[in-house]
Amino acid sequence: MTAQAPSSWPAHASSLAGLVTLVTGAARGIGLATVAQLARAGAKVVAFDLSGSPWSELRSLGATELLEVEGDVGHGSDWERAISSTLERFGRLDVLVNNAGISGEIGPLVDCRDDMFDEVMRVNARGVFLGLKHGARAMMGRGGSIVNVSSVSGIGGGRYTVAYTASKHAVVGMTKLAAVELASAGIRVNAVCPAPTSTEMVFSMERSVSPADPEAVRRGMTRMIPMGRYAEPTEIAQLIVFLASDAASFMTGTAIPIDGGLKAG
Ligand SMILES: NC(=O)c1ccc[n+]([C@@H]2O[C@H](COP(=O)([O-])OP(=O)(O)OC[C@H]3O[C@@H](n4cnc5c(N)ncnc54)[C@H](O)[C@@H]3O)[C@@H](O)[C@H]2O)c1
Repeated sequence: MTAQAPSSWPAHASSLAGLVTLVTGAARGIGLATVAQLARAGAKVVAFDLSGSPWSELRSLGATELLEVEGDVGHGSDWERAISSTLERFGRLDVLVNNAGISGEIGPLVDCRDDMFDEVMRVNARGVFLGLKHGARAMMGRGGSIVNVSSVSGIGGGRYTVAYTASKHAVVGMTKLAAVELASAGIRVNAVCPAPTSTEMVFSMERSVSPADPEAVRRGMTRMIPMGRYAEPTEIAQLIVFLASDAASFMTGTAIPIDGGLKAG
């Protein structure tokens, strides 16, 4: 199959109406903001997150076409269950957002624990690999769009986050490979690369680096960002939703920084 240009050119939000979307790490942060925007655009949403996640905020969105699936993105059997539940409830899968991720501990490369490295790679890299594999299988024959959430740590070195940086580079590499392999099936694959964003992931990192003064960590981090602040989860979600939609119909294999100018410096 050749990836065709859409016959009409809808505004991107309306082009998502009625589409079946699956978001991992959906219960909070960037995932939750993405679910909110997808639901507002009229998409049906499958929200995939760990067992015991705080689902209450997601439920309070009031989305009627919402299916919650509890599972671990690093487990192939959980992906099989998530996809089969999606197909059973909604009949197809059009959009997959591989968003779930963990930061791991912050510290020098020479002190990085082997098991911590493995766990970050298991969730962030293996989790995206499994999502690409099972998600693309479900999209074969119809086409679709996959958005992977990498990071500015997926396009630069930084420091003190060797496991996270390795895993997010892996996400960018898999995005490019999948885009090429899946183009003829009409499946687009792109990545977003956010700078620090106001979510619990970053707040807990601030507390772990400086329990006595997490605000000082924030001041130091935002000083490096030309726009002088963290991103809001909604700002990242807007780019994810754009890439997921037909408004991005000729985009595939990209890894887009969304970083307040950080990577321009
Ligand atoms: N917050 C940032 O500064 C920032 C910057 C760049 C990239 N990112 C990336 O954005 C994504 C979302 O991060 P966030 O900031 O919203 O973090 P968050 O910690 O607020 O939310 C992450 C969500 O993923 C879920 N999750 C974690 N491990 C999982 C697993 N094994 N299986 C299923 N779900 C799992 C968590 O339960 C949680 O709901 C991550 O991939 C992260 O690396 C975040």
